[in-house]
Amino acid sequence: MSTELKAELQTAVEHRRNFAIISHPDAGKTTLTEKLLLYGGAIHEAGAVKARRAQRKATSDWMAMEQQRGISITSTVLQFAYRNRQINLLDTPGHQDFSEDTYRTLAAADNAVMLVDAAKGLEPQTRKLFEVCRMRSLPIFTFMNKMDRPAREPLELLDEIEQELGLQTYAVNWPIGMGDRFKGVFDRRLRQIHLFERTAHGSKEAGDTVIDLGDSRIEKLLDQDLYYQLKEELELIEGIGPDLDLELVHQGQMTPVFFGSAMTNFGVKLFLDAFLEYAMQPEAYKSTEGEMPPTYPDFSGFVFKLQANMDPKHRDRVAFVRVCTGRFDKDMTVNHARTGKTVRLSRPQKLFAQGRESLDVAYPGDVIGLNNPGVFAIGDTIYNGKRLEYEGIPCFSPELFAYLKNPNPSKFKQFHKGVTELREEGAIQIMYSVDESKRDPILAAVGQLQFEVVQFRLQNEYGVETLLDMLPYSVARWVAGGWQALEKAGRLFNTAVVKDNWGRPVLLFKNEWNLQQVIGDHPELQLNATAPVA
Ligand code: G4P
Repeated sequence: MSTELKAELQTAVEHRRNFAIISHPDAGKTTLTEKLLLYGGAIHEAGAVKARRAQRKATSDWMAMEQQRGISITSTVLQFAYRNRQINLLDTPGHQDFSEDTYRTLAAADNAVMLVDAAKGLEPQTRKLFEVCRMRSLPIFTFMNKMDRPAREPLELLDEIEQELGLQTYAVNWPIGMGDRFKGVFDRRLRQIHLFERTAHGSKEAGDTVIDLGDSRIEKLLDQDLYYQLKEELELIEGIGPDLDLELVHQGQMTPVFFGSAMTNFGVKLFLDAFLEYAMQPEAYKSTEGEMPPTYPDFSGFVFKLQANMDPKHRDRVAFVRVCTGRFDKDMTVNHARTGKTVRLSRPQKLFAQGRESLDVAYPGDVIGLNNPGVFAIGDTIYNGKRLEYEGIPCFSPELFAYLKNPNPSKFKQFHKGVTELREEGAIQIMYSVDESKRDPILAAVGQLQFEVVQFRLQNEYGVETLLDMLPYSVARWVAGGWQALEKAGRLFNTAVVKDNWGRPVLLFKNEWNLQQVIGDHPELQLNATAPVA
């Protein structure tokens, strides 16, 4: 490889940091995203992202809205520069949009920011997303948000992460008071106190008063009890807590923790600065040719998400590709590993908030949006040079199940075509009953919205009106060893058996409790919450 390209790739990789935010609805993801953009200079006044969300909330028919406005209801990728770094925020969708895409986006991320409402602690969606991060050993950075409101005790919050997630914690900053008495945080890196000033919703960058720990003004600025409490807690965490170990952070075993208030901007800059220092740069991805370092000279990447109808005028489908190695150039021709064909990549796009800009070059850690209808499926690898294929993206355990019925037999062909194409695209998983007389496909989704999307698209794109018949299950597990292992296990109580699109057995349970029962009764059965795409 030319030394120039090598140096160019090296520099690009060193300067890139990519992450996704994992959180439960209402923890403040939209707010934090906006504040990060504000600091990144990508927007000048907070409100833009929020406005978009408010509009989204206000409409019950999001699809109509998406069409009218031509915006994306699911994730977009935000790229901004900050302190000589190129930051890519893979903006996973929020509550209403929870879907398998939320999981898949994590397959393209190098780091995760776990955003926690400090009054609530860990919540269900965060735990689920955390499990996906753990599968990939992603480094996790924790932001305890809403400290300007009554919150749980900081030590208790750390303890919850340690106990429940099995992650060691290292508080990078420590809060002084909370709620009405929230006075700021102590930054352990520089051993300084950052004093909190209340701003009206923090639409501009926060003014920050910083004083050293030994400064005599402290006692005037802080109430005595808060000052002593801070000293006591610091002694405690510095005495018994572990030191920051970046290697453990990069292996996903220790999480740096930050306290702050996204709404008032407080602690956001401290977080961003430390995050950039500690976060992992784009790393090697596993492929059929072994681990591919990002500085490998030939371009390669994989599709982690497909999105339809982003622009109603074009009715296009955008494939989101994570660049893994080499340099991507506009109008490049690449090989498509699954089909063996060559594809000229048309209309590459970099996505920013609601607008789309065209893109000329991209580097490892970046995400590009490609508009090649019908070519790509989730998990596809594209490459130049030597043939290789990335590991792909697994199916994640769905939580909602419904028979999809086509009441109009004359539309059978369109129905079948639509269901097949939407499945291939990854809009939803399809399963089937083992009972041959029940031929309706079972839609299996992570979130309710996926059902709506599928029904809407079947009607709009394939002209088929459908009915849903909900099934009473909420947990799915794939059986390692397939039908043979299942047969050996004998009768399973409170379990339904279906087959996935590749004919593999999947067990459905009404709830976690039933699953645990089966695990208890059949320790020999290995049940998996994810399965490779066959
Ligand atoms: P999400 O994307 O994770 O769902 O959360 P979002 O940012 O929309 O925040 C949810 C609510 O929490 C919003 O209030 C937001 O203003 C508030 N919030 C976010 N960060 C903080 C914080 O640091 N402190 C406090 N006190 N509140 C915070 P809302 O009432 O739903 O909206 P709005 O009326 O404030 O716009």
